Amino acid sequence: SHFERLVIAAYRLPFKFIKTKKGYKAMQNSGGLVSAILALSENLQQTKSEFIDNKIVWAGIGETLPQQATNPKIENSHFEIVPVEIAQRTNELYYGGFCNDLIWPLFHYFPSYCVFEESYFEAYKEANERFCDELVKIIRPGDFIWIHDYQLMLLPEMIRQKVPDATIGFFLHIPFPSFELFRLLPRNWREEIIKGLLGADMLGFHTHDYAQHFIKSVKRTTSYECRQNQIYTHNKLVKTEAFPIGIDYDKFHLACFLPKTIHYKNKIKEIMPNQKLIFSVDRLDYSKGLLARLEGYETFLEKHSEWHKKVIFNFVVVPSRDNIRKYREMKKEIESMVGRINGKYSTLEWRPIVYQYKSLSFHELVALYDMSDVGLITPLRDGMNLVAKEYIACQTENEGMLVLSEVAGAADELNEAILINPFDRMEMAEAIVKALDMNSEEKHERLEKMKERIIHYDVFQWAFDFFNQTFYIKKQQHAMK
Ligand code: UDP
Ligand code: G6P
Repeated sequence: SHFERLVIAAYRLPFKFIKTKKGYKAMQNSGGLVSAILALSENLQQTKSEFIDNKIVWAGIGETLPQQATNPKIENSHFEIVPVEIAQRTNELYYGGFCNDLIWPLFHYFPSYCVFEESYFEAYKEANERFCDELVKIIRPGDFIWIHDYQLMLLPEMIRQKVPDATIGFFLHIPFPSFELFRLLPRNWREEIIKGLLGADMLGFHTHDYAQHFIKSVKRTTSYECRQNQIYTHNKLVKTEAFPIGIDYDKFHLACFLPKTIHYKNKIKEIMPNQKLIFSVDRLDYSKGLLARLEGYETFLEKHSEWHKKVIFNFVVVPSRDNIRKYREMKKEIESMVGRINGKYSTLEWRPIVYQYKSLSFHELVALYDMSDVGLITPLRDGMNLVAKEYIACQTENEGMLVLSEVAGAADELNEAILINPFDRMEMAEAIVKALDMNSEEKHERLEKMKERIIHYDVFQWAFDFFNQTFYIKKQQHAMK
């Protein structure tokens, strides 16, 4: 009644390697998927799980792992890396094409950004097959195979074909859109994606809505019988469920008290002793609503001159997918808008926006979460948004407030935040004022409620729940035979 190893398949491996004078340094790759699975890998025992022994295998794209790279981060960890190699040209059409020029915009409700190319889908299949080849070489009875995200939607069925009795879970880290968007894919791609996913035993989504959208798409694409959240394919029962992904709460909360973090916190206090700090951090991505956020902030400056010189917006943008045209274009637009707003409102002693285009170290990130008076997280669409949860976990003094987009998955759980429509710049401007003006008592009350919820359903509980329910569905399948 338990699984021996956890075999993770995800496009991204946890680290990239940066060459320094002292050799190679491992740096965590950005994004919510890596944050979550890495936290899990480092603390599998915390899942209180009798279902999985201590071993994790992680298969992902082998980003030129340098031969000479010896690194304690990798060697001492609980997981073994299986690099999957994909030819560069294929990867461009697969990752740069099908995944991020079609599925990403479509599933985030940007159909006009979608590029439909026959060769993209061919490459998508080929890449999923490469993952399948590598996995089939290493999997053995007793493994729990957990496939992650939109880059690998054909993989569950591919593995099922080769290893019929495998235990396969799939988790989607981005929204599953309404059928009205999903149907925009060519019919045969649509069918292959649905059937690809249905190779799993358990399909997990962040929210109930995404799971419902998926079921609707199954009904419109196949003739399989669906009863509530169960799907009866021609040879097995598949279950869908909402598992809102969480964070490693203790890791973030406790980090606020570490000397390294305190060093950054003191620095922030020193630089701006009499000003309020608004903070945001996202990958550079159109789904994050970066331009709309700048517009909202500009409206705030326009309408509320009483706040001039009293507030600074630290706008941190983490480089992402810069080989893709839409992302490169976006960077230029952001930079010109930041320049324009700063040009309009700056004085000799004050700049309204401090823009940084880089990734932050963990301690810097935590210090900024903790010290900022307002967390401004306003994606136009987001599967979950872990940054919002991390922000709450780091409110050690309960003196900050979160302004959060209502179309982020996280809004379902964080309804004591100030929720806004990210397209409405007037509403955003007023929400900033409300957050800045909110009294301590109210902030305290709201934050404690949100903390309670994210402590209870943290990343370990999320995984435990997923394993548990998959185990249960396996039993149900057996009983039906
Ligand atoms: N993050 C990062 N590098 C940074 C700043 C943040 O890797 O410089 C992390 C952050 O802590 C969070 C993740 O990136 O865990 C972003 O996850 P989220 O779900 O908010 O968005 P995604 O990038 O997955 O769309
Ligand atoms: C999101 C996706 C992940 C992806 C990450 C970073 O979190 O859900 O699958 O890994 O963004 O994007 P990248 O394209 O750099 O892997």
